[in-house]
Amino acid sequence: MNQNEILLKNDSFLISHTDAKGIIKFASDDFCKVAEYDVQELIGKPHSIVRHQDMPKAAFEDLWNTVKKGGIWSGFVKNSSKTGKFYWVYATVYPYKDQDGSQGYISCRTKVASRDEIDKYDALYKKMREDER
Ligand SMILES: Cc1cc2nc3c(=O)[nH]c(=O)nc-3n(C[C@H](O)[C@H](O)[C@H](O)COP(=O)(O)O)c2cc1C
Repeated sequence: MNQNEILLKNDSFLISHTDAKGIIKFASDDFCKVAEYDVQELIGKPHSIVRHQDMPKAAFEDLWNTVKKGGIWSGFVKNSSKTGKFYWVYATVYPYKDQDGSQGYISCRTKVASRDEIDKYDALYKKMREDER
């Protein structure tokens, strides 16, 4: 824990919807609060708006490969807030078809259960980033 970290509440539930290209169509109140954006600032923006530089590319490649094939992806994600703070989430991303038949994706995020898990993924992602250089 450091002063740049935003800690989720135990019952925080951060939801967002995107179109097929990852453009945000909906963001829940908890998502906006934690990410420090007004909902209007998020709608129409690429989801990488909350990307943190510590995240390895491979994590998002895995996410996109999974959901594009119709699978459900779960994983640990470090995100950046509007003011440059960070927050960890455990995310599950689901593919779905909109009423008009177009492809969409939904992400549901909760607090990471333990500090040990955060430390573990912090170290793993650091190593993955080094391997990507
Ligand atoms: C439903 C959904 C939710 C996503 N949520 C996040 C997220 O919380 N943080 C993030 O960095 N990327 C998220 N992504 C992945 C981004 O679309 C993007 O691939 C990632 O930020 C890497 O950005 P880049 O390819 O521009 O480097 C999400 C994608 C989808 C489909």
